Amino acid sequence: MFFAMKEVGKIWMNGKLVPFKDAKVHVLTHALHYSTAVFEGIRCYKTRKGSAIFRLSEHVDRLFKSAELYSMKIPYSKKKISQAIIKTTKASTLKECYIRPIAYYGYNVLGLTPTKNKIDVAIACWEWKTGESRAGRVNGARCKVSKWLRIDSRSQPMLSKAASNYANAVLARMEALNGGYDEAIMLNYRGDVAEGSAENIFLVKNNKIFTPPLSSDILPGITRDSAIKIAKKEGLVVKEKKLKRRDLYVADEVFMTGTAAEVKSVTEIDNKIIGNGKPGKITRKLQKAFKATTLGKDKKFSRWLTYI
Ligand SMILES: Cc1ncc(COP(=O)(O)O)c(C=O)c1O
Repeated sequence: MFFAMKEVGKIWMNGKLVPFKDAKVHVLTHALHYSTAVFEGIRCYKTRKGSAIFRLSEHVDRLFKSAELYSMKIPYSKKKISQAIIKTTKASTLKECYIRPIAYYGYNVLGLTPTKNKIDVAIACWEWKTGESRAGRVNGARCKVSKWLRIDSRSQPMLSKAASNYANAVLARMEALNGGYDEAIMLNYRGDVAEGSAENIFLVKNNKIFTPPLSSDILPGITRDSAIKIAKKEGLVVKEKKLKRRDLYVADEVFMTGTAAEVKSVTEIDNKIIGNGKPGKITRKLQKAFKATTLGKDKKFSRWLTYI
């Protein structure tokens, strides 16, 4: 289910907080034409001790890494960007929200060479309730293996969370939705399972958890990393392994992870029922543990929360 954007709070643009409706870019902005942008998706959770941003430093590190892979020099320090994220989140007046920092080549000269434009940075927050995507949380998502292949890392650096990765993801998402499914699963050029259109993927077989390695052309998901660490803490075995489509079909459980999706169960792939067709035991355990972690209820991972 999708909701129109509610314009609340302010948006940080190149060092200043501006009213939400005034945060505009010129139509000849380089990034709009050539996808020269890198961005992040972060969540702020409402905990008993107040609002807290989940894994802020890891998201800021990834933003800078994404930029570096495209030789983009973000004109602010990591510290300044972290402070700006906190400031914008506070200014949003929302107790929990989704946070979107973006760095992009701006407006000056429009030709393929980006470097005549300065790098602009913006940070916005909006409401994106946890649990809003019911498919995967309550019933389990119905997925389709996409006919679109994930972009090969030899074509562009897929470790970067770059806007240019997402036209490929949008094609896969639309194909899945148009076919009546909830989400797409993408394979890479070698036919290995890569990821969902906006999530990493895991399977459970004989009580062991498997997920594709970073070399399968995937985004190094921060929720993926959280899920691996939480699962290990829960005493579960997690292994990175190249996976084929057939491994998904015969898995006991499949789940996806992402900042927006959190931990979502997949109960059907290409009309084949996974396991018993219900969110599996290990998936539910991880959903519960992940939720507790984001709400600051797990001491071991309390350093992942930045209270604002
Ligand atoms: C393609 C892709 N894979 C994986 C993820 C999950 O990453 P994270 O857990 O850091 O949000 C995302 C999130 O946006 C994504 O777009």
